[in-house]
Amino acid sequence: MRAAFFVATLPPVDVSPESTHHAAREGSLAERARRAGMSFNHWYPAAFSHELRRGKTLAVTFWGEPIALYRADDGSPHALEDRCPHRGIKLSHGSVEGCRLVCLYHGWSFDPAGKLVEMKHDTFGKKLPTVTVRRYPARERYGIVWIFPGAAELAALTPLPEIPFAEGPDAWASLSFAYTWQAHHSMVIDNLCNLTHLWVHGRWVPYGETVLAAHTAEQDRLTLRWDHELRRDLLHPFTAPFFRSEPGGNRSETFMIYDYPYQSALSNRRVRSTNFMLPIDASRTKVFSLQLWQPLAIPFAGGRRWPRQLAALAMPFIRPITMEIFRQDGFTVEEEQVAWTAQPARPFPELNPMVKHFNQLGVRKWEQYVAYRASGTLGEAERAEQTRVKVL
Ligand code: FES
Ligand SMILES: [Fe+2]
Repeated sequence: MRAAFFVATLPPVDVSPESTHHAAREGSLAERARRAGMSFNHWYPAAFSHELRRGKTLAVTFWGEPIALYRADDGSPHALEDRCPHRGIKLSHGSVEGCRLVCLYHGWSFDPAGKLVEMKHDTFGKKLPTVTVRRYPARERYGIVWIFPGAAELAALTPLPEIPFAEGPDAWASLSFAYTWQAHHSMVIDNLCNLTHLWVHGRWVPYGETVLAAHTAEQDRLTLRWDHELRRDLLHPFTAPFFRSEPGGNRSETFMIYDYPYQSALSNRRVRSTNFMLPIDASRTKVFSLQLWQPLAIPFAGGRRWPRQLAALAMPFIRPITMEIFRQDGFTVEEEQVAWTAQPARPFPELNPMVKHFNQLGVRKWEQYVAYRASGTLGEAERAEQTRVKVL
């Protein structure tokens, strides 16, 4: 009699919290957007590279699915289902041996493909059983370990996002951090892209009047241009040189992209904030933020710029301000989640014409994903979007 088989396959479509996809078909567009999951068929950030040291494991959750991340002794990152098939404890409690992940409890050892290759106990004269845990494709770029929670056959076709000036000799100075909000991802992206909320930041941001000057919605890519008038207050002489779009002017602009599922905001072509969401479940979202600052021009040097190491010296001053602004965002978005949980069907008035596009995109991508899970095929347009390089 052979030991039980454990086959690495996608779980059936109706798994929690994904089972909300049925409910997602009912109610207003806003309600459906608040219930939708995110398409598993993209690369999502799982950890910053520096958090996953050689020989370390980390527990990560994508939309309710527990994933064990580990870095092998050769430096390569790997991701396996975070559940030992033997007694079910999390493999992320285990240890790394070479390129294997060894379960903490009885020492069952899995290779990077998720195959059981050793047991640290007596096998009672029996052959090693055929046991496999699910493997998730993992890659590393921009100081982030990315995982592909969806269909492995799509991972190879799906590019990572391109972030201009994030790498190479012309890279801008960078700052990175992550935050987890107790809120659905649709609320998080609404906060990131909908600058009608600048009121909440008061004098922490230098903007007075802000208007949505232009917007587009094309397939999976939405863009918004926000124009600001800089507030003339006591801080204006200090903030204006950094935030104005033209020397001596008083205008500022923020160009935003949401190229599903990645977000970017470019301020005056000099500061780029990219934000990558990891939907943990229906009411928790982690965001990995990478902020890039173009080094300032050297006066009278024919357009040459200070080295980025110099710009990097400013980061310890910028970080606490940025963190406070995100704290203000987090507080209000979590309050929104509380209100929505209490009364999900209560309609809310909305004036911003782009909110509808964000909700439509979120719902459409989730429905396409659910359909893919059932059929295993992509339509022609979906395939084109799946393979397109998303430049932020
Ligand atoms: S529970 Fe993992 S080896 Fe027993
Ligand atoms: Fe904000």
